[in-house]
Amino acid sequence: VLAFVRRVLPRPPLRVLEVGCGRGELAAELLAAGYEVTALDADPEAVAAAREAGVPAVLADFLEAGAGVHDAVLFTRSLHHIGDLDRAAALGVAACRPGGHVVVDEFARERADGPTAAWFYDLRAVLAAAGLADDHPDAPAAADPAERWALEYGGRRLHTGAAIEAALAAHLTVELVERCPHLYRHFAQRLEPTERGAAVARSLLERERERLERGELAATGLRLACRRPT
Ligand SMILES: C[S@@+](CC[C@H](N)C(=O)[O-])C[C@H]1O[C@@H](n2cnc3c(N)ncnc32)[C@H](O)[C@@H]1O
Repeated sequence: VLAFVRRVLPRPPLRVLEVGCGRGELAAELLAAGYEVTALDADPEAVAAAREAGVPAVLADFLEAGAGVHDAVLFTRSLHHIGDLDRAAALGVAACRPGGHVVVDEFARERADGPTAAWFYDLRAVLAAAGLADDHPDAPAAADPAERWALEYGGRRLHTGAAIEAALAAHLTVELVERCPHLYRHFAQRLEPTERGAAVARSLLERERERLERGELAATGLRLACRRPT
């Protein structure tokens, strides 16, 4: 995510707003790289963790709080969760200066097909058996992986990648759309924060990337670089 963001943003100094900063991993890297970052999240636990990691994160619901004006607005996997997507896109534009950047890192849940869902659930079971990640005992169960995916990630609770793209395109010039690996991140965020955990995460990313290149899996990662018209 950091590599993508740095590729599409101008170099610092730059005022950046990150919406849905979570535990602040990306914000910490951007601060270290010299960006002026306002990191915002509605989850008190995530904000506390970000602050502990040295990121002066703000506890606020983006849909309700004003966010000032910035040179760039980043939505980092927050848009698929956000309640009112059109309002979020409009507020994102309002928080971005004319000519500024809106950068989005997202999960296009609707793109997963049967083989993609099967790969995901097989890996999840193996990682759980190895004691490396939990197997989501509360997740809805179904024998067919595509059905299981639809039960877990379908429905109207999460916005689709297509809806996110459309909401942004209504206000912004979309300059770049990239499809990329994402499933490994579902596991990576639950792995132990050790060298072993990092090695497993790297291996999962490599496997997913190779299968995407061979056309054996569908890409559920979605990245967009947009500009606010002047
Ligand atoms: C999947 S997490 C992503 C965290 C981190 N950016 C990452 O990519 O790992 C989504 C985050 O968006 C935050 N979020 C969702 N809706 C929000 C809103 N209306 N205002 C602020 N944060 C929100 C959630 O609290 C959560 O921390």
